Amino acid sequence: MTDQYAVIGNPISHSKSPPIHRMFAEQTGQDISYEAIESPLDGFAATIERLRAAGYEGCNVTVPFKFEAFELATRLSERAQSAQAVNTLKFEGGAILGDNTDGAGLVADIEHNLGVSLRDKRVLLMGAGGAAYGVILPLVHAGAHIAVANRTADKARQLAAAFAASGEVTGCGYDELDELQFDVIVNATSAGLSDSAIPLPDSIFAPNALAYDMMYGRETPFMAFAREHGAHVADGLGMLVEQAAEAFHIWRGVRPDTRPVLEKLRSA
Ligand code: ATR
Repeated sequence: MTDQYAVIGNPISHSKSPPIHRMFAEQTGQDISYEAIESPLDGFAATIERLRAAGYEGCNVTVPFKFEAFELATRLSERAQSAQAVNTLKFEGGAILGDNTDGAGLVADIEHNLGVSLRDKRVLLMGAGGAAYGVILPLVHAGAHIAVANRTADKARQLAAAFAASGEVTGCGYDELDELQFDVIVNATSAGLSDSAIPLPDSIFAPNALAYDMMYGRETPFMAFAREHGAHVADGLGMLVEQAAEAFHIWRGVRPDTRPVLEKLRSA
């Protein structure tokens, strides 16, 4: 019988997750279905209950439900706990396992697809909201030396303090970055949504630096700034595919080859 999965969000019609998971399923010979489901904003728990009752095996969760999914899970992975958010649910009898594959997806994209090892690299993580919390633990575990910078500097310091025991993480405001250089700069802010620039010093990029924007589908002011300053620039499409592959592995126990899927999305 075909095992059923879905991605739940609101809005959800533009999600690339269904074609990604269908390509994974075809490639690995897994008999699954995967659809996009829009949940009412006040009806996430009811939507999940409906899927469980209908025999679904699990689902992905996206904006704005990742925190509700975190609350709903009866068991959480370490990375979901640190993210305080869940993007992957697996239904197992009466249990709901909650995981977060965003950070693993980011690290896999940077290290495997873009070929940049994070071990001992100076990484600047910009932002201290949900997106930054979602990725920080896997960045720490990859062995990077991390500075978190945020418009509201206190939030960056708070985030850094929460992870200081796990690795080297400091927090600051953008005005404290003068004189510093980074090998990898990750934009986890929502500034790009409003086409806002982030006030970075001109000298922020180390030679050969990677500028990574977790957004995809648009050139953000940060990406344009990075290009002007000679950095390598990547958007978040690879992260999207890699976090999906990690979810697929949680559900199916097999790891799809992400490269042809990413190539297909890029050429579409
Ligand atoms: P998300 O889930 O996308 O992380 P969020 O939790 O609302 O959304 O966090 C948004 C992040 O983008 C925050 O770090 C925010 O900075 P503040 O904490 O100072 O608000 C950051 N952000 C949003 N717009 C920004 C802008 N124009 N310039 C710099 N940072 C911005």
